[in-house]
Formats: sequence, C-alpha cells, structure tokens
Amino acid sequence: MSQWVSIWRAAQLAGVPRAVLQQQVRAGEIEENDGMVSTASLLALYPQLQLEAAGLAERVARIRDESFGKRVRERLLPSQEVLAQRLFQQSQELADVQRHLQRYHALVVDLREQIRQKNREVGGDDPRLAALERALAGGLARVLATEPVDALHVMDDMLKVMSAQVTLRPSGHQFTVEGRDSLLQAGLRAGLNLNYGCGNGSCGMCKVRVTDGQVARCAASDYPLSETEKAQGYVLACAHTAASSELTLETLEAAGPADIPEQQIAVTVRALRPLAPDTLLLHVQTPRTHRLRFLAGQSVTLAAADGDGAQARHPVASCPCDDRNLHFFIPRDPGDPLAVRLFAGGVRPGDALTLWGPYGSFTLAQATQPLVFVACDVGFAPVKSLVEHALSLDAAPSLTLFWLATRGDGHFLANQCRAWSEALDPFEYSLFTDTDPAAGALQVARAMRADLFEVDCAFYLAGPEAFVATVTAQLAQAGVPAAQIHQEVLP
Ligand code: FES
Repeated sequence: MSQWVSIWRAAQLAGVPRAVLQQQVRAGEIEENDGMVSTASLLALYPQLQLEAAGLAERVARIRDESFGKRVRERLLPSQEVLAQRLFQQSQELADVQRHLQRYHALVVDLREQIRQKNREVGGDDPRLAALERALAGGLARVLATEPVDALHVMDDMLKVMSAQVTLRPSGHQFTVEGRDSLLQAGLRAGLNLNYGCGNGSCGMCKVRVTDGQVARCAASDYPLSETEKAQGYVLACAHTAASSELTLETLEAAGPADIPEQQIAVTVRALRPLAPDTLLLHVQTPRTHRLRFLAGQSVTLAAADGDGAQARHPVASCPCDDRNLHFFIPRDPGDPLAVRLFAGGVRPGDALTLWGPYGSFTLAQATQPLVFVACDVGFAPVKSLVEHALSLDAAPSLTLFWLATRGDGHFLANQCRAWSEALDPFEYSLFTDTDPAAGALQVARAMRADLFEVDCAFYLAGPEAFVATVTAQLAQAGVPAAQIHQEVLP
C-alpha cells in the first residue's frame, strides 16, 4: 500500500532538489495530494530507491551500502539528548499504533467468535453466517500475513530521527534541521530571511513561538524571556533546536530590504588573495556575537579602521546563510581608495575594517519562477550571492547564468560555474567575452533570445551601466515586463 510523505521529505529521500520534484509533480509524473506525494509514484520515478522485499535486517544492511546510506552518513548526527528525544517520540507513536492494533485485533477475533456462536445456535447451517465468518477469517489472515515493508517508509522513519522538518507560520516556508544546527542556523542555511540580531542568545530578536512539536536547548543564552512568553511557547531560535521530528513555529520573516536594519560592524580580514591579476578576493569575518544580517545581492560599505578615509561600497559575493564569513570581489580601480590600498598591500589578514550596511534592493523577489542571472565582470559578485541563495531556497525550477567578461581578468571564477553546473541539474551557464560592455550585452541578449524571452522568467542584471542598460533595452524590446527585470549598476 502506498504511503504519503511531504514533498520536502520526498526530495530528501530521493536525493534531488525540491524544485525538481515540484516540477515533476506539476508535470503529473508524481501523484500529489494536499502537499503530500505518494511513495509508490516516487518509487516508480526513482526505481533505484526500491529495495527488494527481503527481511528488515537485510534491508537495513543494504541501505548502509546505497546512496541513501551515504547521504545519511555524511550528515552530522544531532546531539545525544536530541536523538534520545526524537527516538522517545517515535517509540511513543509506535506504542500508540501497537495499542490500537491490538484492540482492533481483539475486536475482530471477538466478532468472529460471536458469528461462530450464532451459527452454532441455529444448527450450524446458516450459509450467510458461515460466509461472514469465512470472510472475517480470510481478512484477518491477510492482515496478519507478512507484507514487504515499504522501503521508503523505513527511510522516512530514519530521517525523522536524523533530521527534523520545521514549518513556519504564517509563511508556510519549510526547512530541515540537521546535525547540531540551531533553528536559526538551519533556517538561514535554507535561505530563509528569519528575524534575528546577535545570533548568540543575547538580543531576543530571534524569538519564535512553538505551536506544535518540541524543542531542546542547544546553546546558552542571556536574554531573559518573561514568564508570560515562556508560557505562550516562545523560545530563542538561536539557542534551540528541534527535539521532535516535526515542528511548527510562528514567526515573522523579512519580506525585503526595508525589513533589514542598517548595521555597523568591526570585522577582521581573514584572507586577501588574487583571483586574477586585477581582482582580489577579500574575506572578512564578523565577531561571533555581531554577525551581518543581509539579503543576497545587497552591498555594504567597507572602510579601513584606521580612519584614513579609504572606503568604498561593494556587493557581498557570499550567501547570507553564512552571516559571519563575508566575501567580496574587489576590482583594481584607481578611483576606489580602498581598492588602491588593498592592491598596494596596505591591508593584511588580521587587520580590522569597519563595515556599514546592508544597502540596495537587488534581491531575490520571488524564487519560484525560472531565474536568469546576467553579469558583467565583477557584477558576478552579487549574482554569485543570489545564485547561492536561490540554491539554498531550492525552489526555482531552473537557474541560468550568462557572464560577460570585458577585462583581461576574464571569468575569474569559471570553475565555480562549472562546479554548480556539474552538481546541479537545474543550473546552466554560458560565458561570453567582448572588450565593450554594450557590444557584449548584445551578444548575451542574442544568446538569451533563443529560449528565455518567451518564458515567465525573472532577470537579474549586474554590471556597468552600458551593459545593464543594453540588456534591459533588449529584454524590453522582446516584451519582458519591467517588473521581471532587476538591475544592479556597478561602477
Ligand atoms: S539572535 Fe539574538 S537572541 Fe537570538
């Protein structure tokens, strides 16, 4: 008999992005009902998940050798306390089911006995009572016969212990808590814009209300929740993890840049290395107690902490899922005093910088439609952040990247694009070269026109003004509505 699991869990079981599974549901390839998919149709589409109907011990041994087992092993285990709580909860559910089954069994046996007795009372030759007794006995035998265990159900049960599924209200967003992640870390890793501040239990901004399921403390916190808040089920997301395999939380999420407060943070330079002769990778780290809350695609102002006036605005090139380690691609630019100082070796690992921000609205408006990213030179920085964010959200049916290089540095992170494309089915990329941004933009637009102008895509363009303006004009000419075009003009 087919079981039903959530799309999120089904994607975990099959080891494919959720967006891929959603596409298959839309195409009618997988049976779906009220957000749940049938394990029978999942197995039909992913037959490698089908384990032979042997004994359970053999099955588990096989799981250890298969790709699913590998995915399980690669995850960090939750803490012993959390594992114990999740196992306890599953044992309780199992005990409940067992109790019910025993009662039903007793009821059916009793019924069969009553029918037998009735038939005896009428001389044992009532054909209807005899048929009823035979039907009941046959049904009971079929139910008690050992049926092959649904392999996906076994795997689902294992995943329920290894990881927990969290649903947020009112948004309906879902994410998985794995290993020793707090609710906040897991939510950020999943690309959600959760409310938070310090990330270490002292500001209270990450308060969430647990409306279903159980949580366990996973980190110390100083912020004192009131007795009323505790009674209402509020906990700090940065100091708690999921103790039950399913959890529902009530919380508000940032809807856009206006919901993200401006911050000033003293950061430390962790690394500074050339990606190409005229492009530096700057890696800065925030203090553990003061991380940068930002949306993918946004920029910050960076300044030398010694106050010599060397400061400039740069897009963050990394994903908000890691709010401590921030990456920037700094191009050599005589008009940028900070870049001049960085290229001259005036800043070294371990030095302090001051950061203000985040700024800008070049952020993901909607992640459920096909996404097209179009970058020129270091316009790849905000685009990389957006691509990583979209991959974390796992909701876009496809991601396509067009990257034009006009400088001698070329596509300084082409290997990153290759890695995405090799690892992820829905990601494709094309590289272009032209010394003139506008001419290069026409080249990119010609390549795009083939298939993307017709589809309901969202376009994210980043680069110098001539490039962004030319691609925008080409998109407009092709009938793409302005609301679907998002731009970031860089110097
Ligand atoms: S983010 Fe500050 S207490 Fe959780």
